[in-house]
Amino acid sequence: MSDTHSIEKNPLRHIAIVMDGNGRWAKKNNLPTIAGHKAGAEATRRITEAAAKHNVEYLTLYTFSTENWRRDERWINELFGLLAWYLEHEIAILHKNNVRLKTIGDRKRLPEKIQKLINKAEDKTKDNTGITVVLALSYSGRDEIVRAINTIINDSKNGIIDSIDEKSFQGYLDTHDFPDIDLFIRTSGEKRISNYLLWQIAYTELVFEDVLWPDFTEEHLEKAMHEFKNRERRYGLYVA
Ligand code: IPE
Ligand code: IPE
Ligand code: MG
Repeated sequence: MSDTHSIEKNPLRHIAIVMDGNGRWAKKNNLPTIAGHKAGAEATRRITEAAAKHNVEYLTLYTFSTENWRRDERWINELFGLLAWYLEHEIAILHKNNVRLKTIGDRKRLPEKIQKLINKAEDKTKDNTGITVVLALSYSGRDEIVRAINTIINDSKNGIIDSIDEKSFQGYLDTHDFPDIDLFIRTSGEKRISNYLLWQIAYTELVFEDVLWPDFTEEHLEKAMHEFKNRERRYGLYVA
């Protein structure tokens, strides 16, 4: 199968990444853990630019999971400090590059300062027409589904709906504005989903890379995209 043919067959609109391995990168380089996350933030900038260059429309990045709240408080504070810095300073670069920033997750659980910075960043970039970068913050797939169900129960009590199907259910998810995920990438060699986008990855192609997130380069992204383009997506349709 030629690449040209498979590119047409497999449009790549939406990539989701589990940016894993920042702590191990810091350890490997004898640095404090937060230095791994700083290097990870640089990889995020690099990969956002690379994905935009390759005409990817949506990039959803697992930044802080619901389960990550169980890590120690010092680590959490340091990570949110870094995130605040990113939202304050990186936003100018994102805006200049025509990036639209969005977030998914249980926003109410985030520190107030972060909530404000998110509102500001989303508002500033809302009319940009380049790649949409979605940060998953205080996010997990199960939590998202349960929050959706609670809203559905309320809407049902208020007589707004009396039944639900796949399409209308999707409308209640945090990701309701975004297309399904074509390609899922996890770095660091771990081969699991870790509660990411459970509903949305029903027919996503999965790629696991053995490199730690701070070392992830445009070449690694291109390799994953190439693998994706050579896959045969069947959606249960074909008989051998
Ligand atoms: C993943 O990096 C990113 C976050 C959870 C914020 P880790 O912190 O999980 O890095 P490792 O897995 O310990 O190397
Ligand atoms: C998933 O990585 C969450 C993020 C990348 C934000 P984890 O490091 O938390 O996942 P596990 O614990 O290895 O499954
Ligand atoms: Mg990890």
